[in-house]
Amino acid sequence: MKINKKFFNILSLMLVSTFMVGCNNQGDFKSKDEIKIGITLYRQDDVFISNISNNLEDIVKENESKYDSKILLQFVDAKGSTLNQGNQVDKFINQDYDIICVNLVDRTAAATIIDKAKSADIPVIFFNREPVEEDMNRWDKIYYVGSQAEQSARLQADIVAEKWLSNVELYDKNKDGKIQYVMLEGEQGHQDSLIRTEYCIKALNDKGIELEKLADDSANWQSDQAITKMSQWIKEFGDNIEVVFSNNDSMALGTIHAINSNSDLIRKPIIVGVDGIKEALEAIKSGQMDGTVINDAYGQAKALFEISMAVSNGDPVENINGIEKGKYKKLPHTKITIDNVDEYLKE
Ligand code: GAL
Ligand code: CA
Repeated sequence: MKINKKFFNILSLMLVSTFMVGCNNQGDFKSKDEIKIGITLYRQDDVFISNISNNLEDIVKENESKYDSKILLQFVDAKGSTLNQGNQVDKFINQDYDIICVNLVDRTAAATIIDKAKSADIPVIFFNREPVEEDMNRWDKIYYVGSQAEQSARLQADIVAEKWLSNVELYDKNKDGKIQYVMLEGEQGHQDSLIRTEYCIKALNDKGIELEKLADDSANWQSDQAITKMSQWIKEFGDNIEVVFSNNDSMALGTIHAINSNSDLIRKPIIVGVDGIKEALEAIKSGQMDGTVINDAYGQAKALFEISMAVSNGDPVENINGIEKGKYKKLPHTKITIDNVDEYLKE
């Protein structure tokens, strides 16, 4: 009996320790063998956003073998709803994701997400839709990846100025020495819409070019909405439109569609966009569009990847090239016209 009891004690000790080792292994396994990155997108059908997603997938495929851990990417589409996005973040938190990347539906509504992530101690990288500074300062494990909006506006202005000055006779349709323009804006309140709209005009004024606004309105970054707006403006202003500024390429392409399919014949105005999506580069190549400014989807995806890996390996984010204030990475743009479009169409 005594021996049996002793044997039983030893056995249970062994069982307990095996169980404990199992737990430890499992714990280590989870943090070391797999890094789970959850990404919620404001709208998956946004062309530029889907470029960032595709680039991120490629970057992970190319680089995974350099790390000890497997990397899991999980993309979800908030479909323009803050409620959906909140639920998606909750799910990532409940499923113990290591990093959450958030392309905010509403950039003024970051606080709730930050507070939830903070209490679960899961770092958040916002991208493309920048939270206000006050929210960015709520916690030291939040980051932002985006682009240098003012630069995109100034480069867009450069394209217009060069084109205009190359043949004022031709482009100044009413010969008044000023640019009559319409402006297609992105979503209201989006940092890129606000800054691009303001600074492209300011930059042209700085160059001594006078402008007169015929109309401006938001088409929410979308081609369809731009077709509707532009068709309206063609009816209203006809051939008086000398320049179409578009906060992004999708809307610029909508403009071209409206001009091509409109029966009230107008002579093509100067048309410029931002992003450098493939269709826009093709439109530049074929002479339908005058220029765009590349919004670096690859660079932004790479920054998301680098910050994610640094944070999950416990490396300092400050060491990443181009990081500002320890949490911001804003990528520069490149100007594209007929002169250099071939170089970028090849890629
Ligand atoms: C901008 C981009 C737009 C649109 C928007 C979405 O930076 O130029 O095309 O994708 O982000 O937030
Ligand atoms: Ca004019």
